[in-house]
Amino acid sequence: MISLRIALAINALSYICALVELAVADDYRPTFHFCPAENWMNEPNGLIKIDSTWHLFYQADPTANVWGNECWGHATSSDLLHWDHLPVAIPVENGIESFTGTSYYDANNTSRLGTSTNPPYLAFFTGYTSSNGTQDQRLAYSTDLGTTWLKFSGNPIISAALEAPHDVTGGLESRDPKVFFHEPSGKWVMVLAHGGQDKLTFWTSLDAKSWTWMSDLLASQIEGFPSSITGWEVPDMFQLPIQGTNETTWVIIFTPAQGSPAGGNGVVALTGSFDGETFLADPVDSSTLWLDYGRDFDGAMSWENVPASDGRLIIAAVMNSYGSNPPTNTWKGMLSFPRTLTLEKIGSKQYFLQQPIAELSTVDSTLASIQNQTIAPKQTLLSSIHGSSLDVRIAFSVDSGATLSLAVRKGGSEQTVIRYSQSNSTLSVDRTASGDISYDPAAGGIHSAQLARDNTELVYLRVLVDTCSVEVFGGQGEAVISDLIFPSNSSDGLSLEVIGGTATLQSVEVFSVSL
Ligand SMILES: *[C@@H]1O[C@H](CO)[C@@H](O)[C@H](O)[C@H]1NC(C)=O
Ligand SMILES: *[C@@H]1O[C@H](CO)[C@@H](O)[C@H](O)[C@H]1NC(C)=O
Ligand SMILES: *[C@@H]1O[C@H](CO)[C@@H](O)[C@H](O)[C@H]1NC(C)=O
Ligand SMILES: *[C@@H]1O[C@H](CO)[C@@H](O)[C@H](O)[C@H]1NC(C)=O
Ligand SMILES: *[C@@H]1O[C@H](CO)[C@@H](O)[C@H](O)[C@H]1NC(C)=O
Ligand SMILES: *[C@@H]1O[C@H](CO)[C@@H](O)[C@H](O)[C@H]1NC(C)=O
Ligand SMILES: *[C@@H]1O[C@H](CO)[C@@H](O)[C@H](O)[C@H]1NC(C)=O
Repeated sequence: MISLRIALAINALSYICALVELAVADDYRPTFHFCPAENWMNEPNGLIKIDSTWHLFYQADPTANVWGNECWGHATSSDLLHWDHLPVAIPVENGIESFTGTSYYDANNTSRLGTSTNPPYLAFFTGYTSSNGTQDQRLAYSTDLGTTWLKFSGNPIISAALEAPHDVTGGLESRDPKVFFHEPSGKWVMVLAHGGQDKLTFWTSLDAKSWTWMSDLLASQIEGFPSSITGWEVPDMFQLPIQGTNETTWVIIFTPAQGSPAGGNGVVALTGSFDGETFLADPVDSSTLWLDYGRDFDGAMSWENVPASDGRLIIAAVMNSYGSNPPTNTWKGMLSFPRTLTLEKIGSKQYFLQQPIAELSTVDSTLASIQNQTIAPKQTLLSSIHGSSLDVRIAFSVDSGATLSLAVRKGGSEQTVIRYSQSNSTLSVDRTASGDISYDPAAGGIHSAQLARDNTELVYLRVLVDTCSVEVFGGQGEAVISDLIFPSNSSDGLSLEVIGGTATLQSVEVFSVSL
C-alpha cells in the first residue's frame, strides 16, 4: 500500500515534471531573433559586414549560463535572419578576458597586420584581468575575412598606465573601445567609456596600434543632459544624414547603467560635431534622448563596413537586463531584432527613427488583413488568429479619449497588452499579466512612451512578437518599447479592442514569421 502510494506519488511527480518539461520544451528559444546555441550572452561586439556576410560577435560565457569568462562569441548570417554559430573568435587567455569592443576594416593596411593585397580586419576589445580588475585596450586581427582572429603581439595597445592620467580609477573602468578611421584627419579614432565617471575619452592613432589621448567628453559638457543618467558604457559613433535637410551629423550612442525610462540601463543618442579630436555635443532634448523605452535594449551597436549601395545604419542590442534570472535553462540573453537607425528633423526637433530591417518581410506570411473598418467598445477583432512569432502592423485613429489595445501572447489569464491612449498620446506595453514575471522584481510593469499623431490623426504601430519578446515601434519609429516576456507556450492568441470611444482601422496586417 505504502509502496503503491509512493509509486503513485512518483508517477504523479514525473507526470508534473513531464508537463513542466513539455511546457518549456523549446526553452523559450526565439524563432527569428538570435540567441546563443547554448549558455550566456550579453551585448553585441564588433558588428561588421565582410563581403556578403554579416558578422555578429557578442560577449559570451561559452562555459556557463551566467556572466563570466567573457569572450567574443561569433555567428554569421547572409540575411540577418538565419545565423550560423561559429567557434569563439577572441577567447580568454592567460587570465585576461575579452570584454566589449568594435571591428573595422583596415583597407590601407595602416596597421601593417595584413598585406596591401589582403588588408586586415581589426577587432578592438577591452582586456579584463580578472585577478586585479585591470581593464586595458587590446587588438586582434583577421586576414581570412573575419573567420579567425589573432591577438596582436604588442598588446595592450593602451595599457592601464597610459589610461591612468585620464581615468580616476587608474584603469579599472576604461572600456568598450569604439574605433574608426577618420578620413579628414587621416587618423584612427578610439572612443572609450569610463563607467562610473560618466565620461568618454577620445584617442587618436596613425597605425591603430600606438594611441594618444586627445579629449574628454563629460556629462557636464552636454547642455541639458540629466544628471540622473549615470554609468556610461558601450559607446558607438558614426555619421548620419539628417533627413529633411542637406546636412550630416556625428552621432554617439551609449548605454548608461542607470536612469533609463523603464529603469536600469538603456541607450541614449547624442548628436554633435567632431574635428577628429574633440566631440562638441548639441544640447540634449530629454524627450528625444532615448532610443528605447522598454526594459530590454542595452549595449546597442551598429554594423560597420555596410556597403554604400546598401547605405543603412543597422543597430542591434542585447535583450536581457535581469542577469541570469530569466527562466531559460539552456541559453541566456538574446539579440534584439536588427533595426535601421535614421535621423529626421521635424519642425524644431530632431528625432531618431528606428524600424525593423526589411529582410523580415522575406520570411513572413499573411495571417489576417483588415482595411477601413471601424471598431467600437465590446467588439473584439483578431481573436481567431494564433501565433507566437508575429509581425503586426496597424494604422488607425481613435476618438478623443479612447484607447486602442492589442493583446498578444494571450491565453487563459495571460496576455501582453500594447495600448495607445489618445488623451495623453501615450504608447505602452503592459507586462503585468504577460506570463512568468516571478523571476525578477523588474520583470513585469508597464513601460510607456509619448507618441504624437501625424497631422491626419493617424497612429502607426509595428509590433514584433517572438517566443519570449515583444518590440513595439510607434509612429515612424520615434517611440520604441522592447521587452522580454515569458508566456506559456499555449498563450498564442490575439485580440484588438477599443475602450472609451471608437477607432477607425485604416489597416491591420498580421504576419506569421517562420524561418
Ligand atoms: C511550444 O511551441 C513550440 C514552437 O511553436 C513547439 O515546437 C513546441 O512543440 C510547443 N510545445 C508545446 C508543449 O506545445
Ligand atoms: C584608405 O585610403 C583611402 C585613400 O586615401 C581613404 O579614402 C580611406 O579613408 C582610407 N581608409 C582607411 C581605413 O585607412
Ligand atoms: C602591409 O603590411 C605588410 C606587413 O607588415 C607590409 O609588408 C606591407 O608593406 C604593407 N603594405 C602597405 C601597402 O602598407
Ligand atoms: C594586474 O595583474 C596582471 C597579471 O598578473 C599584471 O600583469 C598587471 O601588472 C596587474 N595590473 C595592476 C595595475 O596591478
Ligand atoms: C538641399 O540642396 C539642394 C541642392 O543644392 C537644394 O536645392 C535644396 O534647397 C536644399 N535643401 C535644403 C532643405 O536645404
Ligand atoms: C480604404 O480607404 C482609403 C481612404 O479612403 C482608400 O484609399 C482605400 O482604397 C480603401 N481601401 C479599401 C480596401 O477599401
Ligand atoms: C494615459 O491615459 C490612459 C487612459 O486614460 C491611462 O490609463 C494611462 O495611465 C495614461 N498614461 C500616462 C503615462 O499618463
